[in-house]
Amino acid sequence: MTPRPVTLGLDLGTSGVKVVALDAQGQTIAEVQRSYPLLTPQPGWTEQHPEDWAAASVDALQDLAGQLGKLGAVPLALGLSGQMHGAVFLDGRGEILRPAPLWNDQRTGAQVQEIEQRIPRADLIARTGNRAVTGFQLPKLVWLREAEPQVFARTRHVLLPKDYLRFVLTGKMHTEPSDASGVGALNLVHKTWDTDVLDALGLSADLFPEVVNSWDVVGRLKTELSTRTGLPVGLPVVAGGGDNAAAGIALGLTAARPEVGSVSLGTSGVLFAPLTQPTPDPEGRVHLFAHADGGYNLLGVTLACAGALQWLHDKLAPDTSFDTLLTEAAQVPHGADGVTFLPYLAGERSPWMNPDLRGAWIGLSLAHGRAHLTRALLEGTALALADTSAVMRPLSEVTSLLATGGGARSDLWLGLVSGALGLPVERLEQEPGAAVGAAILSMPAAGLYPDLPGAMRALRPPPGTNIPPLAIDRAQSQHREAFGRLYGPLQDAPHPRKATY
Ligand code: XUL
Repeated sequence: MTPRPVTLGLDLGTSGVKVVALDAQGQTIAEVQRSYPLLTPQPGWTEQHPEDWAAASVDALQDLAGQLGKLGAVPLALGLSGQMHGAVFLDGRGEILRPAPLWNDQRTGAQVQEIEQRIPRADLIARTGNRAVTGFQLPKLVWLREAEPQVFARTRHVLLPKDYLRFVLTGKMHTEPSDASGVGALNLVHKTWDTDVLDALGLSADLFPEVVNSWDVVGRLKTELSTRTGLPVGLPVVAGGGDNAAAGIALGLTAARPEVGSVSLGTSGVLFAPLTQPTPDPEGRVHLFAHADGGYNLLGVTLACAGALQWLHDKLAPDTSFDTLLTEAAQVPHGADGVTFLPYLAGERSPWMNPDLRGAWIGLSLAHGRAHLTRALLEGTALALADTSAVMRPLSEVTSLLATGGGARSDLWLGLVSGALGLPVERLEQEPGAAVGAAILSMPAAGLYPDLPGAMRALRPPPGTNIPPLAIDRAQSQHREAFGRLYGPLQDAPHPRKATY
């Protein structure tokens, strides 16, 4: 049997790790997942043990190597992707000092204010592409200095989750622009740590690792780990990308095709738009990150999307299937007979950047039932994405969206999203995720393609199905009115649709 060359991609997610093996034609020939616990030691705190990530990843790689042996496949390189924004604090010997606070941790409200007192928001956005955000890594470091000064005093390195895992696998510390831009201190034009920002906060740039290209080989699998996993000795490990950037690579999203973006209806709703130039929203209502292809991307994140439907299911209809809930909702007329859902169950990121917003159903009467609640929820989450899309549209060239995530399986929900955003939406047959993107990022290092653009062009998913847009204007005016009644004019966030009302 001629050995079949493959590259490996690993995505270090919040609920677990996924590893895939991709052949040169982009076929996933083997896949393994392992889960690990999420710690919530206090309300608003989320943490994980980096040791759990490492153990689960090594175990998954060992399982994958066994499968590849049976398939006659030879791994040539490994790429990493992972949840963004988390902070792994290490001492001078590379030992973990405490559990890692994650991307969705909300403990740093005071530190976000402190950062913006020391660096005016407009300056921070012009340099880093983002305002200070509670989930980002930089405020976590400021928090550590104030809340746990003894731990801070011993901290010599702070790493992002997938960069920590690469350190475990290779012994080398690096990062790359797509994940580093989620720290909150990367100068987006130069793609190096912004020492003016760090100086203003009294932090040393030496705490952070060197920034290299996402497709660069930055280390080789340690011999003891190749013995343990059965993977080749000296397997090259490339830098990789943050999970949204890596998923974008897998979908073929790149500044060379600026007209195609993506919408993900996952636990949260995510809009991704590739950019050639780092042009931020001047108010920082959506994120501007470096993309793993060497360009940039806008990222809008609404915190409640398929997670809101999951919540409705778990709390109100645990014995009813999602299909039944969606079929019931499809019978309800557009506008849910006057019921509106504001989906801010976990506060909101884009465009409001306000963790204190809360959700509501408004307009209920005795005539309404569960189907109206579900219909209003689908409309409300679509309209929350539209609020974010309205901020992104003038900054990007996107004219159509590839849809991903569990919610994208529903024609009704996708149709509402397409109607609300005023953009054609396409559902793909198969949805390549961040692990596949990480494997593609390692294709040039493996010698399977001369460069990343070549690999992305060849491995782009085939066209999917266009989902017809559904009317949403009635729901939209109800949403606007309900939002205005509940929240009034938000002080620091003018309504993004104000200009078009
Ligand atoms: C992006 C973000 C999440 C995490 C979790 O800004 O916070 O998408 O990367 O996976």
